[in-house]
Order: sequence, then C-alpha cells, then structure tokens
Amino acid sequence: MLGIETSCDDTGVGVVEGPKARFSERLSSAPALEPFGGVVPEVASRWHLEHLPRLLRRVLAELEVRLDDFSAVAVTVGPGLVGPLLVGLSAAKGLAKGLGIGLIPVNHLEAHALSPFVGQEQVPFPYLALLVSGGHTELVLCEALGRYRVLGRTADDAAGEVLDKVGREMGLGYPAGPEIERLAEESRAKVSLPVTRLPDFVFSFSGLKTAALRALRELPEERLADLAAGLQEAVFAQLEFQLRAAVRETGVRTVALVGGVAANRRLREKMERLAREERVELRVPPPALCTDNGLMVAFCGYLYWREGQRFPMDAVDAVPDLDLGEPLPGGEKD
Ligand code: KG4
Ligand code: ZN
Repeated sequence: MLGIETSCDDTGVGVVEGPKARFSERLSSAPALEPFGGVVPEVASRWHLEHLPRLLRRVLAELEVRLDDFSAVAVTVGPGLVGPLLVGLSAAKGLAKGLGIGLIPVNHLEAHALSPFVGQEQVPFPYLALLVSGGHTELVLCEALGRYRVLGRTADDAAGEVLDKVGREMGLGYPAGPEIERLAEESRAKVSLPVTRLPDFVFSFSGLKTAALRALRELPEERLADLAAGLQEAVFAQLEFQLRAAVRETGVRTVALVGGVAANRRLREKMERLAREERVELRVPPPALCTDNGLMVAFCGYLYWREGQRFPMDAVDAVPDLDLGEPLPGGEKD
C-alpha cells in the first residue's frame, strides 16, 4: 500500500507491506513558506506538484519495486487545504487508474489518531487520542476503525497554531514549535502565563496567546527563552488537564498522543507522568510520525483495505472540512 499526504505544507510518501512500515519520506515546504510566516495555499500546492513525483521515484528506487507491485494507493482527502489536497488526490487517482489498482481515501485526522500503531496487526480500540497539531486540537474517543467520538476540541486556535503565532512574533522561523522547544531548554526562570481550564473538554488558547504577546512586548530580549518555556508550559498544562479529565470520565486504558506537537519532548514527558499516575498505557509515535507524513496515511488505508472496503474512484473527492468520524467520500453508508 502506497500512501500520499499533501493536505497542508508537508509532502509525504509512505509504504506499508501488510501493517509493517517499509518506507517513509517527507519534504516540508517550510523553507518556501518561511518568508510568509505561515502556510500560503498556492505556494504549498506548487511545492507538492514539484516534490511528489520526486518522492515517488525515490520510493521505487529505495524499495526496488515497480509501481504495479502496489495493490492500492491511499491518499489524504481531508481535512486540509483544497489546492494541496487536490495535488495529492490527482496523483493518486492517476496512479490507481493507470495501474488498475485500488484507491483508498484517508481522513488525515484518522491517520494521525492511528499513527502510534503503525506496524501492529491490531489497534487497541477503544482508546483516547489527544490530537495536537498546527490545525487541530481534539480529544477523541476512538471506538473502532471509522468510528470516532470527538469529546472536545478547541474553541479558537489550535495548540500548534499558538506556538507558531507567538513564535512568529518572537522572530522564530515557521513552524515555530521545534524552535520554541529548543529555546525553552535554555530557560532558567520561565515566565508564568495563565492556564485555561474549561469544562466539557473545550480547549481555548486565545487568552494565552494575548497574554504571551503582551509579555513579549514587556520583556527584555534576553528573556526570550523564558517566554518560550512559559508558553510551552501553559499550552501543555491545559492539554494535561483535559486529557486527565477525559481518562477519568471514559475509563479507557490506552491513550494516544498524536499530531505535530506530540513531537515535543517536554510534552511527551508530561504525558508519560500522567499515564503513570492514571495507570493507563501511553502510546506516542516516533517524532517523524507525529508531524504530517505518508506512512500514517498508508497504514490507515491498509486497515480499510484489509477490512475489504472498496471505494469507487469517481466518488472519491477532496473534502477540505472533513470531520473525524464522518463517512469517507465514496464509502458505503452504515
Ligand atoms: O501535524 P502537523 O505536522 O501538521 C498539521 O496537521 O497541522 O503539525 C504541525 C504543528 C506546527 O504547529 C508545529 O509548530 C508543531 O506541530 N510542532 C511542534 C514540534 N514539532 C512540530 N510543536 C512543539 N514542539 C515540537 N517539537
Ligand atoms: Zn496533521
């Protein structure tokens, strides 16, 4: 199974054989986006157009396979930016049609939620997933393949978005998350920022963003690391609060920490401690599988393929606002 990911700013290609990972490569368009300080859909689309064919050639060379060795191609159809999504989908449709193989539409959020289990025969449903990325912050009860209950999400910015936005004002590159992590390690006295704790698993980061930007204006330059550490801490404390509440309410035994922000070592440590205290098993993908990649897409597609699900090619389309748990385009309705 070949997997293609182009929903946002990373071009990703991955291959699984059965559930096992065979290949994963990702090219971030961040350098092209750096001057804009964020994702510009046209720039990202052009990036995917240029880099996807190259990545596909690398797969074939690296694995010494031919395109027609694949049984199917899985591709992210949403949520994401329509232009970038269409680049990946057109390529996948072309391959599937030309080679006469299957096409599996993949929900990007579902692929993230399943990412800690790449390589495993069984996914330990039910489990709780905390999905933290640049576009999403969601707490999800994962009941079965295709069956997800979103317990709560953010009312405003996503966790990664706050790091990226405040980071941009701090003069850091895009995306700022990794640089904030690095800077925070140099901090000696972190700036104290407010932690939002709302009921019903609702996340909110706009108050924190305002407070962080105000602190930035008032602080001397040499305390940038302290601000980075304080910002990270306040974001993570809110995530921890909501995850703990959800573990207690649902009684699940397994928790998955996924999405780009899950690559952060400090967050991983905090969540490991939470898991020990709450006696649940924590599953976090390796950092390269936290940020957007094609391997999680290939794995998610494989799980559907293995269940015998097939999708008529003409019905598969890009769905920029696809929700978790929503039927896949071209899929059978229950
Ligand atoms: O999942 P992802 O690659 O793309 C989306 O689907 O949004 O997540 C990207 C986000 C960005 O906001 C980026 O700043 C953040 O993940 N991120 C990090 C780290 N690596 C990536 N945030 C904190 N620490 C990191 N090490
Ligand atoms: Zn993502």
